Amino acid sequence: MKFNIAVIPGDGIGPEVINQAKKALNAVANTYNHVFIYTEAQMGACAIDATGNPLPDETLAVCRNSDAILFGAIGHPKYDNDPSAKVRPEQGLLKLRSELGLFCNIRPVKAYEQLIDNSPLKREIISGTDISIFRELTGGIYFGIKELSEDGTVAFDGCSYSVEEISRIAHFAFKAAQNRRKKVTLIDKANVLETSRLWRKTVTEIAKEYSDITLEFLFIDNAAMQMILNPKQFDVILTENLFGDIISDEASVIGGSIGLLASSSIGNENSLFEPIHGSFPQATGKDIANPLASILSAAMLLEHLGLHEEAKAIEKAVEKSLELSIVTQDLNAESSFSTSKVGDFIADYIENPEDSNHNFQNIHMGQSTII
Ligand code: IPM
Ligand code: MN
Repeated sequence: MKFNIAVIPGDGIGPEVINQAKKALNAVANTYNHVFIYTEAQMGACAIDATGNPLPDETLAVCRNSDAILFGAIGHPKYDNDPSAKVRPEQGLLKLRSELGLFCNIRPVKAYEQLIDNSPLKREIISGTDISIFRELTGGIYFGIKELSEDGTVAFDGCSYSVEEISRIAHFAFKAAQNRRKKVTLIDKANVLETSRLWRKTVTEIAKEYSDITLEFLFIDNAAMQMILNPKQFDVILTENLFGDIISDEASVIGGSIGLLASSSIGNENSLFEPIHGSFPQATGKDIANPLASILSAAMLLEHLGLHEEAKAIEKAVEKSLELSIVTQDLNAESSFSTSKVGDFIADYIENPEDSNHNFQNIHMGQSTII
């Protein structure tokens, strides 16, 4: 089959990890006879530098016309410590999410057996963890009214949610739970926030349509604690924008590295796939960043396009790279594998799952005949 994929490498390590994801997709295209047509576009600090706009109209148009969007990372230190900056790279991503209506952000968190000892958390606590976080992505305090008083001494961020905004993602979360362990945990702050009380009421109502699913509630402060005390209790987590942002970074510790977490952002018309990590400016251009989150984002992209076997092929290749420790240094301090070598291995394994074990030695020596 033929698909149009919009590719936004973005800032920092974005282009490096995106290249590895494309290698994986190309390997899938060769193996399963698909055609992926990539159209590259700019967003973030690089787009500000080139056009003054973090999300140029052209990028938006490319994304709208795509079957799926593959995105790298965004952000640059020159904006981070300048509260007076009028344009920021992150505005590009937020505007893209909002313009395309990408309301449902899915962030899977898994404790890979091979990486358990990489996590600062104890083996017995995290082993077997498998969580799917459903984060609302286009509402809440991120997109509320923002104000700064004229004298600059008082600031305001409004948070609002409608039944409609809550319902559409809640249905996605319940449906996902039906194919998993049949539990949804709504994380909120309903003891304090009016918006959270609307979430509870709306989600409780929707739960009646899913009698096979157990619905539980947790306040965000307690949930943050439970995430490291007993993460195995979670199956599907459903939550609003800001809480989802925070709890997903916390949950990434379970996987042993934030460099492993992929995500999808789904709307009615479009969908975007990206690692949850940032642009890691210190590593830019050094070929040391972990490409696995980006590669796993490509797997989520294929899954979304209905290419299940193809998505599995990428996931298997990632698991193999962990098993053989063909990983970057964040996962194994002793490792000598670069970002691109890990990408080469994954692509190689997708195309030749049978002989990659032999070829491993050659790849190690940089002498593979395939790569
Ligand atoms: C994320 C990021 C973004 C967010 C930033 C870059 C605006 O942290 O995707 O989690 O807060 O949503
Ligand atoms: Mn975040």
